[in-house]
Amino acid sequence: MKQEHSIEISRVQDQEELKGLADALRRSLWFPRLEDDDWTVREGVERLRIARLDGEVVGGLSCHLMGQWFGGRSVPMGAIRAVGIRPDARMYGVAHTMLTSNLTELREAGIPLASLYPATQRLYRSVGYGSAGTMVWYRQPISELHPTTRTELRVRGLSGSMEMLREVLEPLYRARAERTNGHLERSDWMWDRCFLKPGGKQPRDVYVVDRDGKAEGYVICDHERIPDQFRGRLEIRDWQATTPEAMRQLWCFVADHRSHMEFVRWHGPRAEPMLAMLDQHQWEIDVSLTWMTRIVDVVEALRKRGYSPALSTQVSLRVEDPCLPWNRGCWRLVVENGLANVTETTPDSKTATLQVQGLSSLYTGYLSPYSLEQMGLLQGPSDTLAELALLFAGGEPWMPDMF
Ligand SMILES: CC(C)(COP(=O)(O)OP(=O)(O)OC[C@H]1O[C@@H](n2cnc3c(N)ncnc32)[C@H](O)[C@@H]1OP(=O)(O)O)[C@@H](O)C(=O)NCCC(=O)NCCS
Repeated sequence: MKQEHSIEISRVQDQEELKGLADALRRSLWFPRLEDDDWTVREGVERLRIARLDGEVVGGLSCHLMGQWFGGRSVPMGAIRAVGIRPDARMYGVAHTMLTSNLTELREAGIPLASLYPATQRLYRSVGYGSAGTMVWYRQPISELHPTTRTELRVRGLSGSMEMLREVLEPLYRARAERTNGHLERSDWMWDRCFLKPGGKQPRDVYVVDRDGKAEGYVICDHERIPDQFRGRLEIRDWQATTPEAMRQLWCFVADHRSHMEFVRWHGPRAEPMLAMLDQHQWEIDVSLTWMTRIVDVVEALRKRGYSPALSTQVSLRVEDPCLPWNRGCWRLVVENGLANVTETTPDSKTATLQVQGLSSLYTGYLSPYSLEQMGLLQGPSDTLAELALLFAGGEPWMPDMF
């Protein structure tokens, strides 16, 4: 006879539970390190959830509330990380139960989206997450950069408190985020992660690209020695340029590291404008990750994102959701002036039927309706598919942040 097991998910109540969680995560992930005694403080105990199997703490997760930009509007999102279940408690359905409980909690808090970086897709697909965007690490040999066109702009080191740095950088970051599907509306925690090296103690270097006292770009970076070499690599955590001159000046800044740096690494979209500025084609992709998104609340998620102001259209979508009953049903989406109204309706011959996992990939702009149809996640008449392709077009979804 199959043995029944009890699974419970809860907040952290005391030090004993916190210790149990830290131990389970250390056995499952690369963190927290044993010496990292302020990990839970930085993470925020209120964001942690623990999972118990037959009464014993066996794992947990962390959920940070942020925003994520889609169609020019920031949609509230739960950024899920540190999902880990002890090796001796796996395949009992603990992670599945914990993730479903997290989605219910997010909905109760009025958060219509959840996103995460998956180590395995099957687990997250089983609770309705769909592939949603990318984070690409590029690598470019610095000696191969020959910038001939220095500009009048100056790259200037900036130091000060993290609040002061953020005041200068955030408007520049936001200029890109507002126009880029998938970018985060960074929380305080995420800005701290930008300014501090892993471990959360040492600061990274910050520079601004300056034109007559006005910032047109920035770079947050640090450098590391390559093991067994007298040369290093320049690691760009994030950079941004709002003008073509600032883009060129950033490449000059990187090239000026050529005497002792072997290569530079940074995060960008697959179609990377910074690469299109270069003369040579020597870059490589070092790592490419795909993040996943889950529509927690279909109606609110569709209402809260933006759409092209050039569109005036309506479609009806029948959503199938195996985990979250409030999402099931047929929804009419009416889009005008860049905003959507969503109401319940009855299916007709134009209705498209979508699995919630497919809706998530469509929503972020990662997969087209045609790819989703091919994957068996969407069915509908071809003119509805064409409407959906227009509604959710808007550039490649990507982000430079990892969580
Ligand atoms: C991945 C992990 C969290 C899964 O925990 P778990 O409690 O064993 O998962 P569940 O028992 O709830 O499994 C739920 C589903 O995911 C699948 N699954 C679980 N682990 C999987 C894996 N490593 N690879 C592929 N599928 C997996 C199960 O088969 C099940 O799918 P099914 O219902 O369709 O059969 C756990 O193995 C772990 O902590 N791994 C190391 C850390 C890690 O990778 N964390 C994820 C970071 S994003």
